[in-house]
Amino acid sequence: MSVAEGHGEMITYPEDKTEESNCGSHCDQRQTHTVAYQEKQDGENLWDTFGLLQIDPGCENSRDQFTGNESCCSKNVLRKQRHWEKIVLAKKSKRKHERERRKARRAEEKGAALQHSKWELKAIAKERLLEAKETGPRLCIDLSMTSHMTQKEISRLAAQIRRLYGSNKKAPNPFWLYLTGFVKSSPIYEACVRMNDGFANYLMDVTPESYLDLFPLETIVYLTPDAENALEEVDPQKVYILGGLVDESIQKRLTFQRAQEEQLPTARLPIQEYMVKNINTKNYHSTTLAINQVFDALLTFRETKSWVEALKAAVSPGKGYVFQDRTL
Ligand SMILES: C[S@@+](CC[C@H](N)C(=O)[O-])C[C@H]1O[C@@H](n2cnc3c(N)ncnc32)[C@H](O)[C@@H]1O
Repeated sequence: MSVAEGHGEMITYPEDKTEESNCGSHCDQRQTHTVAYQEKQDGENLWDTFGLLQIDPGCENSRDQFTGNESCCSKNVLRKQRHWEKIVLAKKSKRKHERERRKARRAEEKGAALQHSKWELKAIAKERLLEAKETGPRLCIDLSMTSHMTQKEISRLAAQIRRLYGSNKKAPNPFWLYLTGFVKSSPIYEACVRMNDGFANYLMDVTPESYLDLFPLETIVYLTPDAENALEEVDPQKVYILGGLVDESIQKRLTFQRAQEEQLPTARLPIQEYMVKNINTKNYHSTTLAINQVFDALLTFRETKSWVEALKAAVSPGKGYVFQDRTL
């Protein structure tokens, strides 16, 4: 009789017993097995045991002497083999099942941990943004000039606002952001809502008002590529204004003129101070960047205090400027 209980248990087959067989005494002696073992995790023992149950050559030899009995003898052994095979396979499949279950549980736990850290990251980003709201620096995108732009340029501007916000959210030292001149139902408003997922929940201030009505004049610096002065520092006490413009049909000096009319100080990124024009086939050189690129320069400068690093982050090779060797 065979006994197979649970797993990791003692399996005995057959129980200390001399097998009665029609093979006669010779065969009976050889058929006496006591198989008892503690199953190992990997199931090797089952196969070892299985090896003990191979067809006894004695029985095969006895075929000549005991004609008629030998088939019964080998049938018996085969039956036992088949029985063991079944047990071994059942155990293997049970183990496989358990392995898969453990794997699935581990994956589930890992997923939960990741979600947790994502949630934590979000909380940290929020905390940093709110701190920037209190302590600065502040950056404002002036959206009062969008009537100068085509629908395509407006869509591109909405995408740049999304990128700029994304960089700010990830930054260790973010700015507090404002969208000013941002009128409900205007084309740029519609484009931001349509194109930027979760726009309504962006952590920033949005207002139809002008920056002139929001901040003391002495705190404002208008960033424009046409300024004479290069920016040297990012001052947390200041409010930096970026012109909300994507000008493919470049309206030269638009923000510079506006700032002059409003008697505001202006500054440009120090591109010409750190980089030189390279020779390119189109002989194209431009220091006018997209708002998200200018913002990346400001964020990087805040982090590294290095204009070289800041400009590396912002000025793409297509602008026709390269670093002078000595600045690298
Ligand atoms: C695509 S540019 C628009 C250029 C436009 N011709 C103008 O008059 O400002 C968008 C905005 O990014 C900022 N900007 C772009 N390049 C800059 C640079 N080199 N230095 C400072 N600000 C820059 C300016 O605020 C600018 O208004």
